[in-house]
Amino acid sequence: MSGRIPPEFIDELLARADIVEIIDSRVPLKKAGREYKGCCPFHDEKTPSFTVSPGKQFYHCFGCGAHGTAIGFLMDYDNLGFRETIEELAGRYSMIIPQEAGKDNSAERRKQADLYGVLDAANKHFQLRLRETETAKNYLIERGLSGEIAARYELGFARDSWDDLLNSLTAKNISRKDLDTAGLTSSNDQGRVYDKFRGRVIFPIHDQRGRVIAFGGRILGDGEPKYLNSPETPVFHKGKELYGLHQALNTIGKQNQSLVVEGYMDVIALAQAGIENVVAALGTATTPTHIELLFRRCNEIIFCFDGDRAGRQAAWRALENALPSMRDGKQASFLFLPDGEDPDSYVRKLGHDGFVRQLREKSLPLPEYMLKHLAEDIDLSRMDGKAKLAALARPLFNSLPHGTLKALLMQKLAEITAMNEQSLTDLMLDQPKQQTKRPKSATSNSKKHNLIGKTLTLLLNQPELGHEVSNLEYLRLLELAGMDVLSEIIDIIKGRPNLTSSAIIERFRQTVYYDRLCELASPGIELGDDAVKTEFLDAINRLHLMAIDQETRKITACSTKLSEENKIRLRSLQQERLALKH
Ligand code: UTP
Ligand code: MN
Repeated sequence: MSGRIPPEFIDELLARADIVEIIDSRVPLKKAGREYKGCCPFHDEKTPSFTVSPGKQFYHCFGCGAHGTAIGFLMDYDNLGFRETIEELAGRYSMIIPQEAGKDNSAERRKQADLYGVLDAANKHFQLRLRETETAKNYLIERGLSGEIAARYELGFARDSWDDLLNSLTAKNISRKDLDTAGLTSSNDQGRVYDKFRGRVIFPIHDQRGRVIAFGGRILGDGEPKYLNSPETPVFHKGKELYGLHQALNTIGKQNQSLVVEGYMDVIALAQAGIENVVAALGTATTPTHIELLFRRCNEIIFCFDGDRAGRQAAWRALENALPSMRDGKQASFLFLPDGEDPDSYVRKLGHDGFVRQLREKSLPLPEYMLKHLAEDIDLSRMDGKAKLAALARPLFNSLPHGTLKALLMQKLAEITAMNEQSLTDLMLDQPKQQTKRPKSATSNSKKHNLIGKTLTLLLNQPELGHEVSNLEYLRLLELAGMDVLSEIIDIIKGRPNLTSSAIIERFRQTVYYDRLCELASPGIELGDDAVKTEFLDAINRLHLMAIDQETRKITACSTKLSEENKIRLRSLQQERLALKH
């Protein structure tokens, strides 16, 4: 994780990186006053409310609330890990990530880098073997694949041998241990190590950036298991990766739509037919991560699963996992193929146009599918049937985000059950946590808390103001939520002049404060620089007063008879207070 990269390096990186340039190369931005605007890539919108501030080096969307630094943007938009993002940026600005910090971690990272090399070498080996092996080539030809499509998906072949890959790669100085970590070899009880993939057509699995991270292998003809896949490895996590995403990424963006199918061959057959926005989950259910990954790139997902029982089950799982992502603007549909067909066979039958027509005309929108499936086998003419429907629908409703879709579905369900919509809503939606009565002091405390929030907003808009704070020692005494963060930020600023707000916020990425700080930094402040300064100093002053009052209360509360020492302390507090008032 990130803790290992020295914060000074991240400061340095953010000082060189320009968030406007980074975002603009992915999402077109236009200058608007002091800031830049564009259409938010994280939700669907026609009028731009996505704002990038070059001053703060920070972005914020007034539509959906997305916000963050250049690092956060790359993590979300390119779906990179923190470390990967830092590496990407460092590479771009020719900076070298300091090695001494976190030895273990960097060793691990080097290993990961090696792993990509190992997988790439294996991929080349398999592709070479395919070219040399007539039986394998014939198998693919019989299945109707062209040479071009096989090349585009980098198909390969693993010989029916115990050690063909092992020998070929160890001859290239790749260690047996690395082969094992990459999931390319297996071993038996006697400790004998052998190739995992034998006598199989190989489908390399790429990550979004196009690096090979795993393989799937299909037996030629019949046999068990039909497909064999790489195990989970340090670079391969099934639930996070989609087969074909790297190749489909461009088309998905252009068409603003993606198609999810079940199998490797489905992806390839559709791509060959010219339907290129296709991906497949890797022998697992479509996970929420998969769905988010796709919704980040497009607004519409069509699930197209086989017509058999397993396919219908997979579709329902996909629906359940899609619900939390169904923000307004996002759409999902389901195309159910006739029993016995899969997208591969179906597109060969119908051709490009026929298949596209099916997608357009026959796919069932998620809301309809949901209600239809729920009502299956329920007798809706009975009162208890209606109640059953509502009970089944309840958990699904509660995983939908708040929005129009949810409201419309509720309306529909009210119609079906012939219930009053409000009573149905009351019954269906989980109640928000019972609000416990807050003592009065807590309410006033929240006002004070707002003062900290306001102070932080001003400071994050103009970090130089941190240098103006001279009474930090006093402020630190103040027992108020958020005071610790405020004083820490002031410390950071004093320690390193010229930090941008994004660099300051990055220091808190791993903490519970991160999101709140992003929120506080987001609104642009309209006031002139001097007015901001006045407001800030005024806020600091008020905090200082609160600190004095708190100390005073502490001294007077603990005893009726004050010690000599406390008397002196009290007097100096009063003087301090007076001085502040002037
Ligand atoms: P299917 O059995 O539908 O395969 O499994 P398919 O894509 O139609 O394959 P062909 O046409 O017979 O060659 C769908 C997906 O489920 C995973 C694979 O990812 C496969 O593409 N699967 C299937 C496995 O992982 N292992 C298996 O044994 C079978
Ligand atoms: Mn098939």
